[in-house]
Amino acid sequence: MLSAGEELSGGDLYQGLRHLVSSRLALDLSRRSARSIAEVFSAQAEHHRCRSLADYQRLLELEKEDGPAWARLIDQLTIAETYFFRDTGQMELLRNELFPRLLRESEGRPLRVWSAGCSTGEEPYSLAILLDGLPSRQPAQLAGTDINLAVLQAARKGFYRERSLRSTPPPIRQNYFIQHKNTWELLPRIRDRVSFWPENLAGASLNPRTGLDLIVCRNVLIYFERSLIAAVLERFMHSLRPGGFLLTGHGELQGLANLPLDLCSFENSIVYQRPRRVLPALAIPTPPKPAAHRPVPPDLAGLVAQCLLQADYARGQAACQKAARERPLEVMPRLLEARLARAQGRWSEARDLLSKALYLDPDHGPSLLEMALVHAHEGDLRKARKLRQAGLECWPGGRQDLPEVVAELDCRLGKSDG
Ligand SMILES: C[S@@+](CC[C@H](N)C(=O)[O-])C[C@H]1O[C@@H](n2cnc3c(N)ncnc32)[C@H](O)[C@@H]1O
Repeated sequence: MLSAGEELSGGDLYQGLRHLVSSRLALDLSRRSARSIAEVFSAQAEHHRCRSLADYQRLLELEKEDGPAWARLIDQLTIAETYFFRDTGQMELLRNELFPRLLRESEGRPLRVWSAGCSTGEEPYSLAILLDGLPSRQPAQLAGTDINLAVLQAARKGFYRERSLRSTPPPIRQNYFIQHKNTWELLPRIRDRVSFWPENLAGASLNPRTGLDLIVCRNVLIYFERSLIAAVLERFMHSLRPGGFLLTGHGELQGLANLPLDLCSFENSIVYQRPRRVLPALAIPTPPKPAAHRPVPPDLAGLVAQCLLQADYARGQAACQKAARERPLEVMPRLLEARLARAQGRWSEARDLLSKALYLDPDHGPSLLEMALVHAHEGDLRKARKLRQAGLECWPGGRQDLPEVVAELDCRLGKSDG
C-alpha cells in the first residue's frame, strides 16, 4: 500500500512529518538519509493501518508525545547504541578524579548524578558500579532518563547480552553480574541504585532537577541542532550545583561559542563545570531559537491578557500550548497558560505549568511570584513567603511594575509590601 518512494516523491508530506518530528521532539534528522527516514514513516503508517502518510501525520498531530504512536516512532528514529564502561579513558577519569573530588565536596550528603540519554541503562549502571568500587560509603542518587520508552523498560530489567559487556573487565563481570545462558544479569543491589524516567531533553515536561553533582550526557547531543544544544546546556547549567560537572562525548560541544560552563581539561577527556562564581544575569547567553521554519507567534502576553479580560480561556490556552510546542524551551507560554488556569480556579494545573516554567528558568521572577500565589492558596504560607522573596529578587522591572499577582499574594499573606 504505502511505499516510501511513491508517497514521498512529492516531498510535502515527507517534509511535513519531518517538521512535526523536529518541532515536537527537536530531534535532528539531518544526519540520517532521507530514504531511511521515509521508510520509517512508511512502516509506521502501515503499522497503524493508516491509508496514507497524511493520515499518519494527523494521527501524530492528535497524539501527545508520550502516546503509543509517538513511542513507536521514537523507538525507530533514535539510536540506542551503548555498552558498559564505554570510553575507558572517561571511566578512569570518573573513578580516579571526578568521583573522589565530588564525594569530598558533597560532605556527607548523597551524591546526585544524572545520566541524560541513558538508553538501555549501561551508562548509569557503570557509574553505579564505579561508585560501589570506591572506598567511600557515601550514598548516591543516580537517575537515568531517555526519550525512548522501550529502552527504559529494558534498563529497568537489568539483563544484558554479551555485546553490552564488551568493554567490561573480567573482575567486574564476576563481581557485579550473574551469568545465565545467553545473558548477564546485573546484581539487583546495583540495579536498585538507579531510577529511570522517560524524558525528552528538548521537551517541556521535564522533572525539575537542581543541585546535581554530575551530569553525564554522552552521544546524545550529536543528534541535536546547534541551537538546541545551546538551550539544553543552559538547562544543564541550572541543574548542576556550582562546581558540578558535565561529561559529554568527545567533541560533542566542539565549535560551540559562549558556553555557559567552564572548560576543564584532564588527560583523558575535557569536562565542563558550572562556574562557582555567581554569574551576572547577562552572562548567560540567550539560545538562538530552534528551527527557522517555526512561525514567530504574535504577542502572546497581549493575547492572553485580552483572553483573561474576555474570559475567553480556551483561545488563550490553545495559543499558549501552540507556542509551547513550537518553542519548547521558553518560559512565557507556560507562565501565561498557568495564569489562565488560575483564573479558572484550576490550581493544580497552574502548579504543574509553573513547575515546568521554573524548570526552564529557576530564576524567572514572574513565575516564582505566580508559584508563591499557588502555595498561598494551598495554605503553605511559609513556602509562599520564600517564593515571594525569591521572585522579587529576580523581578526584572522596577517596584512600580510589579504584577497584580503581588497585590493578591500580599492580601493572602496578610501584608502590604516588603
Ligand atoms: C547513542 S545512545 C547513547 C547512550 C549512552 N549515553 C552512551 O553514550 O552509551 C543515545 C540515546 O539518546 C536518546 N535520546 C535521543 N534524543 C533524546 C532526547 N531528545 N531526549 C532524551 N533522550 C534522547 C536516545 O533514545 C538514545 O537512547
